[in-house]
Amino acid sequence: MLLGTIRDMRPARTIQDLQDLEAEAREFVSALQPKQDSATFVTLSGNLGAGKTAFTQAVARTLGVLEPVTSPTFVLAKSYDLSGKEFSKLVHIDAYRLTKGKELRALDFTHTLEDPRTLVILEWPEMVEDGLPHADVAITLTVRSDTERDIAYA
Ligand SMILES: Nc1ncnc2c1ncn2[C@@H]1O[C@H](COP(=O)(O)OP(=O)(O)OP(=O)(O)O)[C@@H](O)[C@H]1O
Ligand SMILES: [Mg+2]
Repeated sequence: MLLGTIRDMRPARTIQDLQDLEAEAREFVSALQPKQDSATFVTLSGNLGAGKTAFTQAVARTLGVLEPVTSPTFVLAKSYDLSGKEFSKLVHIDAYRLTKGKELRALDFTHTLEDPRTLVILEWPEMVEDGLPHADVAITLTVRSDTERDIAYA
């Protein structure tokens, strides 16, 4: 991925509803290009219920994941194999229950980040800030109404 370009390509906007969330996820995925040397690392920030998991589910659908993508709040990390896509694996991590960066070690996080064909999406980066590299894309979701969410890329 060309660093810095996502922000230019994907301006902050209001997602109107769940259908629009699918469209946003599709546009987001099409703007991503695997890096040469390491995994593409995306963080998702926002309050409980902001839509971090819903967005990840929409990304997974765009990437052709057929099995249900459940919230990894309890399992912490889940990996999905992709076929016929630029990325060969999607790893979805929920750091909500972690309290320090070194707890990521148990999830084999460093190893996961080494594979250029892996897309990592991590919810709640604030919980493990001291153990994270700089995100390639840092997304923030904000609730505007029952169906609307603001999304911003940095
Ligand atoms: N436009 C929208 N975008 C995203 N989610 C939406 C939207 N409209 C309604 N929702 C609903 O909001 C809820 C978002 O829940 P979700 O589990 O994705 O939040 P989360 O940010 O992952 O929360 P947590 O911090 O608990 O993991 C879902 O029930 C989803 O259906
Ligand atoms: Mg979630």
